[in-house]
Amino acid sequence: MHRRPIVIANWKMHTNLAEAEILAWRVSQVAERVDDIDLVLLPPVIWLPSLLESLHHRPRSLHFGVQNFYPLAEGDLTGEIGTAMLKGLATYALIGHSDRRLHFGETDEVVREKLHAALKSGLAPILCVGELTKVVLKARTRGRPTVLERKSDILKQLRSAVTGLAHHQAERLIISYEPLWAIGTGLPIPAADAQAVIEQIRAVLVDELSAPVAARIRTIYGGSVTNETIADYMEQPDIDGVLVGKASLEAKTFLPLAEAVANRVHHRIQHADH
Ligand code: PGA
Repeated sequence: MHRRPIVIANWKMHTNLAEAEILAWRVSQVAERVDDIDLVLLPPVIWLPSLLESLHHRPRSLHFGVQNFYPLAEGDLTGEIGTAMLKGLATYALIGHSDRRLHFGETDEVVREKLHAALKSGLAPILCVGELTKVVLKARTRGRPTVLERKSDILKQLRSAVTGLAHHQAERLIISYEPLWAIGTGLPIPAADAQAVIEQIRAVLVDELSAPVAARIRTIYGGSVTNETIADYMEQPDIDGVLVGKASLEAKTFLPLAEAVANRVHHRIQHADH
């Protein structure tokens, strides 16, 4: 089954408003030319209203999302942003990113709660799964963990999040495999390794949700992806896209990456036609 490729830009706690507006505008210019992929920007939430206003005739393939939210519509929760406030601002929501799991103590239970809240409010969740500390420690001290060692952590996170999801909702999910030692380090993992883990992720999705539902869920890779490495990832049968941090912060590194994904899709479609 053909799944629409997706490139997600996670700006984290970077950019000022002027930088954000210029970058989003530059990305929208690429989005004008590409119709077969989704380009998703996750700016700091505070910039969202201005970005949407400055790009109110934006192309169909350009979307906005949030890096974080509280899993309730609204409430007495000082400093938080509830899902009801995101209506009209965001269509995607990042959930379970390792920054949140490690620095803000977000557990599998919280991740599950956020996943349900996102789906309930109409947001498309981008669920990140990746290895936890023990395995990462090994990665840092004695070389990278084997695929088998990584699997248990990742698959536990995944099962805990997706068990019991209604099938019609689960189809909107995007799962991003994010090995901790590859995030923000400039050390991406080989595309074949990412493929091996994502293949396992797809097997769990089939097991938990059925083959037809799993076939619609996009699975992507995130961790130090650049314009130089993007092609290798997109070659893999189970990798439908990428989540990009550092390389998404500048037009000169992000635009070629997005174009490369779009060209690849074009190429595939042309081949399929012949
Ligand atoms: P990076 O970030 O591309 O800078 O490694 C990836 C991520 O946020 O998951």
